Amino acid sequence: MTSAPPVPATPAIRVSNLWHRFGAQIVLRGVSFEVGHGEIFGFIGPNGAGKTTTIRAMATLLEPLAGRIEIDGIDVGIDPERVRRVIGYMPDHAGVYDRITIREYLEFFADAYTIHDMSVVDTVLELTELSKLDDRLVAALSKGMKQRLQIARILLHDPKVLVLDEPASDLDPRARIEVRDLLLELRELGKTIFLSSHILTELSDICTSVGILERGALVAAGPINEIAARLAAQRGNNPAPVASSTLESGAAPSADGNAAYATPGGAALPEQARRRLRLRVLGDAHAVAPLIHGGAGVLSVEPAPGGQLTVFYSGDDRFVADVVRHLVGHGVGVVGVEAERNELERIFLEVTRGELQ
Ligand SMILES: Nc1ncnc2c1ncn2[C@@H]1O[C@H](COP(=O)(O)OP(=O)(O)OP(=O)(O)O)[C@@H](O)[C@H]1O
Ligand SMILES: [Mg+2]
Repeated sequence: MTSAPPVPATPAIRVSNLWHRFGAQIVLRGVSFEVGHGEIFGFIGPNGAGKTTTIRAMATLLEPLAGRIEIDGIDVGIDPERVRRVIGYMPDHAGVYDRITIREYLEFFADAYTIHDMSVVDTVLELTELSKLDDRLVAALSKGMKQRLQIARILLHDPKVLVLDEPASDLDPRARIEVRDLLLELRELGKTIFLSSHILTELSDICTSVGILERGALVAAGPINEIAARLAAQRGNNPAPVASSTLESGAAPSADGNAAYATPGGAALPEQARRRLRLRVLGDAHAVAPLIHGGAGVLSVEPAPGGQLTVFYSGDDRFVADVVRHLVGHGVGVVGVEAERNELERIFLEVTRGELQ
């Protein structure tokens, strides 16, 4: 029995076979990817990889040598004017006008967008938590506030798709967290967010998908866990060499993390397949550790003061869910669960060769 193929929904962003060169230097080599509606997509790559070039083409500011870009189904090459109404673009190192107030700045841009209802200025001020500062001179703002002002500016015309080039570079940790929270809020409001970064951990923990660009070519794209699973499958076909020793049950991993590990069944496990989960529980972590120890996929458990537990395991996100369910089922108060943050760093190192153009 055959069923009709589903009608493909138009993605929020579709980049197809994008090529570009500056002079003799080819900087984009057939870049293709799609971003679904409501996603936060992280465009990641080292300096000079071609992120800004791709973004400028998406933002209608650069005509690529070849290829096609559609934003919300609109072809950038054919109807850039309409694309500009759909996107909110924040360039890297965007300048702001210094000698006017926040409100004047936003009113100026609302006017430029031919917005007649100035109440949108209040709406974006509130959203970016700048309402109380609205009469402050832009010159007197911190970098983090200026960045939020930039985000406020690109929200004025209520775009569906936000394109942000390095939105958190140069920001201190607090300002970064504020930008991150703001982006999550904007996603809740239904925006699709495309952001670039060369700092892997910067905003990667909020990205639903990533694309990794190196020397103008996309080397991996998709949800982080899917890329990780694909790489793990590839490694399965071509296992990384591992040391012959296997881990004694319950022994602590070596400090440099280079030890070879074994499944409970004794099979050698490549170091890359070892993942780390940090838990915080109420009470004594030493009393809780035996509840986890010996479970399927558990490689080792390290209790520490303050109810901290580090669990090294082999498995996917279901492992994390199972451990939490198991502990809660045994009456343990689980107050913190932090899955390995360095997943993306590992992926990045694995798919890139560290070559710059
Ligand atoms: N206007 C230009 N003229 C000539 N070469 C350029 C121009 N803009 C970018 N390039 C070159 O194109 C390549 C890609 O640059 P691009 O700015 O897209 O990289 P990027 O990934 O955004 O890097 P970064 O992380 O440093 O922002 C680099 O080698 C850069 O030197
Ligand atoms: Mg750039």
